[in-house]
Amino acid sequence: MTVTIVGSQLGDEGKGGVVDLYGDAADVVARYQGGDNAGHTVVDDGEKYKLSLVPSGAVRGKVGVLGNGCVVNPETLFDEIDTLRERGLDPDVRVAERAHVILPYHRALDGIEEEEKEDLAAGTTKRGIGPTYEDKAGRRGVRIGDLLDPEVLRERLEYVVPQKKALAEDVFGKETGEEFDVDHLYDTYREYGERLAEEDMTVDCGTFLQDHIDDGDNVMLEGAQGTSLDIDHGVYPYVTSSNPTSGGATVGTGLGPTVVGQGEVVGIVKAYLSRVGTGPLPTELGGVEDQTPDYEDESGAGEAEEELATYIRDEGGEYGTVTGRPRRVGWLDMPMLRHAARANGFTGLAINHIDVLAGLDEVKVGHSYEFDGEEIFTMPPTTEQWGRCEATFRTFDGWPEVDWSEVAAEGYEAVPENARTYLEYVSDELDTPIYAIGVGPGREETVIVENPYESP
Ligand code: IMP
Repeated sequence: MTVTIVGSQLGDEGKGGVVDLYGDAADVVARYQGGDNAGHTVVDDGEKYKLSLVPSGAVRGKVGVLGNGCVVNPETLFDEIDTLRERGLDPDVRVAERAHVILPYHRALDGIEEEEKEDLAAGTTKRGIGPTYEDKAGRRGVRIGDLLDPEVLRERLEYVVPQKKALAEDVFGKETGEEFDVDHLYDTYREYGERLAEEDMTVDCGTFLQDHIDDGDNVMLEGAQGTSLDIDHGVYPYVTSSNPTSGGATVGTGLGPTVVGQGEVVGIVKAYLSRVGTGPLPTELGGVEDQTPDYEDESGAGEAEEELATYIRDEGGEYGTVTGRPRRVGWLDMPMLRHAARANGFTGLAINHIDVLAGLDEVKVGHSYEFDGEEIFTMPPTTEQWGRCEATFRTFDGWPEVDWSEVAAEGYEAVPENARTYLEYVSDELDTPIYAIGVGPGREETVIVENPYESP
């Protein structure tokens, strides 16, 4: 069977930990979208592994697959594999031949366009994600399979690189270097192709995964980013360029929707909200310079709020895994979660980081929005409309700081009562059962209510 793991908010919900935990019962862990923009931290035996591309399951000896819906930077791929090897692991990573390759000019153009866009900039990770998906849709991309074939690679590069060079130089007025040079790119990417072939890393993803399923193996489909960063269902244009939602799990792997739909879809929720990048955020606390619209005005919102934001940011380690940027933080946003539950068809929830909120007198939740004088319960379709929404809050009594490892060992009943009230509110509102509760960063610091691989 398959279990699909999806971020229900704006990324950084702690998917890596859940993937890692449930991944014990999985034989294969496949990513279906995104690329090396997806910072994920896996903690194993006190060892921290920070990855941005390689599926987290690979840390624990599972077969890790980068599906056809991913965009792959071979430089990052081999850097991460080499680093894991240096640390004594032996990761088994496969890459879909249909996945698109991030080339140096994609990275360069990502940076150039972000500068140009000013207010419309998404605050990207500058990893070239958007420009690579653009070329995929524009039918001028280079795929992993093309790296294995010298003639095809040269033909593709000779067509596309002069266009990219002209775009950078003539449209954006930038100087270009070897990242726009056909011969240099050809030599470098042929080497990557040779290494992929030597290490027998490339696969026909759908067939590879279906064969595993037919053999009775458990497959985990690991989403990166989150629902509100989805190019279709997120807060466009402040989104990433792929589909983190569960539909992406089928298109991005080559498994049929019936296969994915017969499995489980677990929504990962952070008990509050965090966001790297720009765009509105109705439940935001305080703000972050360069990312919060009208930051100067909002910072006048109150010192207490700023202080609370700083407290949550520091307690939760809310600094970008890939970029190190401080994340914006806010209270849980229920309209965002109702939208996510519908768009993904969640069968279960994992709610993380309730330990971060411990010790606060009260915990608030954006229960609904006031939008043009009306109360609404889900996100409106345009981001301009979302920016006009004002959150209507519900207040919950806080819960104390406790020994969370003990709580994890004892199970759900050991979770402080006020925290359970909070969790059950979320579960009731989304009409979805809770499968797991994250109470700390370590693998043992999770209360497991249900393991989807074991449910009937
Ligand atoms: P891109 O994916 O680098 O193009 O960035 C587009 C938007 O998605 C920006 O707002 C990023 O901050 C955000 N984003 C991309 N990857 C992640 C992630 O792994 N966690 C959180 N935000 C992300």
